[in-house]
Amino acid sequence: MILVTGATGHFGKATIDFLLKEGISANNISALVRDVTKAEDLKTKGINLKIGDYDNYASLVEAFKGVDKLLLVSGPDVVNRGKQQVNAVNAAKEVGVKHIIYTSFERKNDAETSPIAFLAKTHIETEKQIKASGMAYTILKNNLYLDTLPMFFGEQVLETGIFLPAGNTKSAFALRNDMAEAAANILTSQGHENKEYSLSNTENISLQEIAQDLTAIAGKQINYVSPPQEVYVDALTKANVPAEYIGMFSGFAEAIKQGEFSAKKTDLENLLGRKPTTAKAFLKEVYTSK
Ligand SMILES: NC(=O)c1ccc[n+]([C@@H]2O[C@H](COP(=O)([O-])OP(=O)(O)OC[C@H]3O[C@@H](n4cnc5c(N)ncnc54)[C@H](OP(=O)(O)O)[C@@H]3O)[C@@H](O)[C@H]2O)c1
Repeated sequence: MILVTGATGHFGKATIDFLLKEGISANNISALVRDVTKAEDLKTKGINLKIGDYDNYASLVEAFKGVDKLLLVSGPDVVNRGKQQVNAVNAAKEVGVKHIIYTSFERKNDAETSPIAFLAKTHIETEKQIKASGMAYTILKNNLYLDTLPMFFGEQVLETGIFLPAGNTKSAFALRNDMAEAAANILTSQGHENKEYSLSNTENISLQEIAQDLTAIAGKQINYVSPPQEVYVDALTKANVPAEYIGMFSGFAEAIKQGEFSAKKTDLENLLGRKPTTAKAFLKEVYTSK
């Protein structure tokens, strides 16, 4: 039995769809959900619904019983997910899960000095706990989703251009759906025990190159400006962007600039058996009709 957590979210749901596409029968797939009303589609597909919450240890123990392979999708609550994921790993171990696959994060810098230490810390702690648990593990080092770029660019990007203090370092952002497909491939094939994979694109691309792609897509000049951090923070503050978002945007931009998301590995391509979706193809899909 395979169990996928975060099954009402984008990554978990996409992974389940790929499992079904690969011929795994729905009755061999379980989905951890907090709220069944959000899981009508999963129910229709015949997926076993297990009610559970990372904050409720007993619910996880109950949900994970009989599971061989567990895809633990990292929680979105960066403040509380440290202890939530401790619960999930302990519960998996208690009931005898054989293989745990965890969606971690691509990074170069494990130290507190990382501009994204606020989210990397819990991933690093969970990786350590999983490795010490004795269960077979696979760590997926997910690059920054291409899907998040429109959020960083803002809704008016085709009018205003890209304004982000991310410098000109290249990154290997990858499509969330491609990473989910790779996760499904890992769940359905052998030889992934005690391995770490960098789920990063094969191509590395700079924000300047992304602006050039947008220029071609929009048929007009889209500029990229990489201001000093303090200018960026000041501009967002004056635009009344909430402080937590400013911190997150500037942290990610600085991480891009420092090369946290640049990658030279072809793990994602190998797991997919094809080239991952390029930034250009993703941008075309998102911005063509606008
Ligand atoms: N690499 C990247 O660029 C990137 C970007 C964003 C996020 N992430 C990470 O990747 C994960 C998956 O991404 P995603 O796009 O699928 O996120 P998502 O759509 O927000 O899905 C998150 C899932 O986690 C579930 N969840 C939240 N709190 C929970 C709890 N206490 N107990 C059990 N389940 C809980 C949610 O359930 P409900 O539907 O009940 O809320 C949802 O199913 C995120 O959670 C985050 O850790 C990575």
